[in-house]
Amino acid sequence: MKVLVVGSGIAGLTTALRAEALGHDVELVVKGAIGSGCTPLAQGGIAGAYGPDDSPALHALDTMHAGDGHGDPRAIAALVDGAAAAVEALIDAGVAFDRGDDGEIARGLEAAHSLPRIAHAGGDATGAAISAALIDRVRASGIHIREHAFAADLLVTDERAHGIRLLDRTVLAADAVVLATGGAGQLYAHTTNPAGATGDGIAMALRAGAAVADLEFVQFHPTVLESSGVPFLISEAVRGAGAVLVDADGHRFLLDQHPDAELAPRDVVARAVTRQAAAQGSPVRLDATALGAAALAHRFPTIDAELRRRGLDWSREPVPVTPAAHYLMGGIATDLDGRTSMPGLWAVGETARTGVHGANRLASNSLLEGAVFAARAADSLGDTPPHASRSRSLSPSSADSDNDRDLDGTTPFTRADLQQLMWDGVGLLRTHDGMSDAVAQLSAWAAPAGTTATAQEDANLLTVARAVASAALARTTSLGAHHLSHAPAPALIGAS
Ligand code: SIN
Repeated sequence: MKVLVVGSGIAGLTTALRAEALGHDVELVVKGAIGSGCTPLAQGGIAGAYGPDDSPALHALDTMHAGDGHGDPRAIAALVDGAAAAVEALIDAGVAFDRGDDGEIARGLEAAHSLPRIAHAGGDATGAAISAALIDRVRASGIHIREHAFAADLLVTDERAHGIRLLDRTVLAADAVVLATGGAGQLYAHTTNPAGATGDGIAMALRAGAAVADLEFVQFHPTVLESSGVPFLISEAVRGAGAVLVDADGHRFLLDQHPDAELAPRDVVARAVTRQAAAQGSPVRLDATALGAAALAHRFPTIDAELRRRGLDWSREPVPVTPAAHYLMGGIATDLDGRTSMPGLWAVGETARTGVHGANRLASNSLLEGAVFAARAADSLGDTPPHASRSRSLSPSSADSDNDRDLDGTTPFTRADLQQLMWDGVGLLRTHDGMSDAVAQLSAWAAPAGTTATAQEDANLLTVARAVASAALARTTSLGAHHLSHAPAPALIGAS
């Protein structure tokens, strides 16, 4: 059958490769150049209970705990049980994970894991290694790659997806559409995500009427370099290796707040960092000096090189850090095989809400989710009977009438306006008033009318922002990353 896979992160590439191996006719549709999304930026690694002292049950417990008890136990079981096969498949695809002197895969520690279980490659270049290996495999396969092709909307007839319409109005018909379009970090003024993370797949699904879930749960990474330049992530693996967070007096303030201090769940650390920075009026600092210059350069070569490029020697001095939007736990609701509520439509990776992350994702479970659930989705594609309406003649105008943009507001907006509104009102620390104001403002804004990629991205961001803000307002108690504060969120210290 004809399968369209939209997106080229770990989830999209894995789905495409596996679907092709199963005999499907696969076309990979990518907004920019292949591999230009979040996956190549992933530093930490891929979690899994690989070691003799570990077990999938313990990994499941940690995943549920980090997610504040909101995760789906069945989805988490599928995730942790699938880890070994997922890593084997990546090794088969050519990913050279770092190994210890004994030849076994080296295992790093990250926050909220009971023990070291993070496989990494190139030290802190795991995503880049995975992306490069999978892209090589895709290029060597029979998969048709369509780059610089912006998927604008789903083609839907009789409540079934049967293809996509590109922004240039090209219509691509298919028996199955798999959305692997990544996250929506660009909803926020400060994010670790690349410029293309504009929630495109979630917006397409919302316009088409597919179910979404858990959109109020947005993860903010606690240790992003505080600077006016392009935000740069300093991996949680650095804290796992022994770096600590200190206040203006050099005190480890997290010791006073959580028994696991810097290795508490990510949402806890991010809130503590934000509050401490507001209280002292300057950024907190990540102190990695105890690790030593040689170890930092060896274990974290990407971070080391970038910090030095920016004139910082982290082996000698703590570096300023601040939280930034990092990951969307919610997304298009799927079953354990990536099926959405809409026949013909699958979703995998960050764009999907499988239920594994609950209200706060455990570190390095994202690459794992992408790999495990993409394989499951590919395996389930063949269960889909071809749909009768697929044979209808498709034209750009019929596609347009299927999926109009929502045009309910009237006031124009800029992307920067939207990002600041979301940062202030639906960010790391939330208040009822802040969320209400955001919902009202978002509904007053009009989706841009143009047909440029920027206009489409802005329309998508508006659609997703409305859904995220409404979901946040509807959840009246704190849970995981959705944290209700009694005071307005402190401003980001030093943000430009
Ligand atoms: C990191 O390296 O800190 C990010 C890993 C993740 O988001 O899971």
